[in-house]
Amino acid sequence: MEGKVFIFDTTLRDGEQVPGCQLTTSEKIVIAKELELLGVDIIEAGFPISSPGDFESVVQISKAVSNPTICALTRAVDKDIDAAVQALQYAKHKRIHTGIGSSDFHIKYKFNSTREQIIERAIAATKYAKKFVEDIEFYCEDAGRADNVFLAQMVEAVIAAGATVVNIPDTNGYCLPEEYGAKIKYLVDNVKNIHKAIISVHCHNDLGLATANSLAGVVNGARQIECTINGIGERAGNTSLEEVVMAMKTHKELNLYTSIDTKRIYPLSRKVSSMMRMPVQPNKAVVGKNAFAHSSGIHQDGMIKNKQNYEIMEPEDVGAGKSSIILTARSGRAALNYRLELLGYHISKEELEEKYEAFLKIADAKKDNVNDKDLHALMGQGSSDRGIFLEDMEVICGYKKTPKAKVTLRVNGKTASTESEGNGPVDAAIKCVDKIVKPNVVLEEFLVQTITEGSNDFGKVHMTVRTGEQTNHGFSANTDIVVASVEAYLDALNKLY
Ligand code: KIV
Ligand code: ZN
Repeated sequence: MEGKVFIFDTTLRDGEQVPGCQLTTSEKIVIAKELELLGVDIIEAGFPISSPGDFESVVQISKAVSNPTICALTRAVDKDIDAAVQALQYAKHKRIHTGIGSSDFHIKYKFNSTREQIIERAIAATKYAKKFVEDIEFYCEDAGRADNVFLAQMVEAVIAAGATVVNIPDTNGYCLPEEYGAKIKYLVDNVKNIHKAIISVHCHNDLGLATANSLAGVVNGARQIECTINGIGERAGNTSLEEVVMAMKTHKELNLYTSIDTKRIYPLSRKVSSMMRMPVQPNKAVVGKNAFAHSSGIHQDGMIKNKQNYEIMEPEDVGAGKSSIILTARSGRAALNYRLELLGYHISKEELEEKYEAFLKIADAKKDNVNDKDLHALMGQGSSDRGIFLEDMEVICGYKKTPKAKVTLRVNGKTASTESEGNGPVDAAIKCVDKIVKPNVVLEEFLVQTITEGSNDFGKVHMTVRTGEQTNHGFSANTDIVVASVEAYLDALNKLY
């Protein structure tokens, strides 16, 4: 069996269903174009019957993107299929994704129907869609919990009716990898006409098994994975694109490959995260902020000796910059020496011993990591006055008021203050900082997260600034999110300069 695995991206359909993640049509077009550059084979652009906005998005994405197949979701209902056909009219390559429940739970409690009637509806929908579009994907919803014998009958019937792709969703993220893999193998071995269609896997992450289940599916004969950027999606999410793609790339012995340009993964992960207002957890596989950051002494020592001791893939390969050695009180002499050398300090063994003692005192005193500024100070090259510090800040904002801010900073020992307006209090305050510091940076990411849900909660702010090739992250937490935003911005600028 050929090893190419088709990547079906459903960020703009299953991903966009998440509360708070909704996008405008123009934002969806931006992401669809990036997905095309990333090299996905199929973009599920929406569910046209569900709303005029979704319909319009499918139309506009069909016009904007030409390489990937554009797919539109429907239920096994004629009017849904009619809407999908209409919405897809401008697509160069088009696919209708129709389907119905396949587990006894869905058949009885969702459709109040019988297995026989469900198969009839599945055949009718496939035949109806096939009148308009050649490429028809059929989903057997809740296949994860469906009886394999019945599932095989359903799959055989829809392929005979014209389905080119059969989707076996683990809709509720229920299956274990071995069980899901065996389900796919059962279909490969028992569906007579299976060679006429591609088997697709669509796994949800309720038990944290979506990636493992998708891989079990392709190992057992599936050749399409349905996934989303950062694994966003309904409840605990969908299979994350970056995880399955990098798992197949890293495990060459699987002889499975995709058309994904992996260097584009990290930048697109960040774009989707900020456009959908969905932060990426720092320890997220492949794209988390800490995915290539090493902080324990033993690991750092091993990394410095040979990166392969603790890195199974290169951060550069997913567009994530370089691996980093984070200095904390748990770091050893090797890590300290490594970071000092990067800053141009080459010291003897004896001097390192002495600096290491002083370093441990700084690391213990700081709640945060020891940064380059601290290292310069350690080497007697910095003063505590070097850097940009917030001295004072006031903002005026409210209903029908133009937001205004007044900010006072101490920059390398000198105090300066200024005022500015903005489209919101954060914008006004950041403009003040820019007026004083005049940094040559682009603000790439600005994420605000709360820890609990109360109005008295802390706001955690994460900012990423870029200048040329260099990016820096800044953080702060405060009950006042405007203050936290300015502090996070200054933290990022301080790391840059
Ligand atoms: O999870 C699921 O079953 C789905 C189908 C609509 C494909 O998203
Ligand atoms: Zn789904």
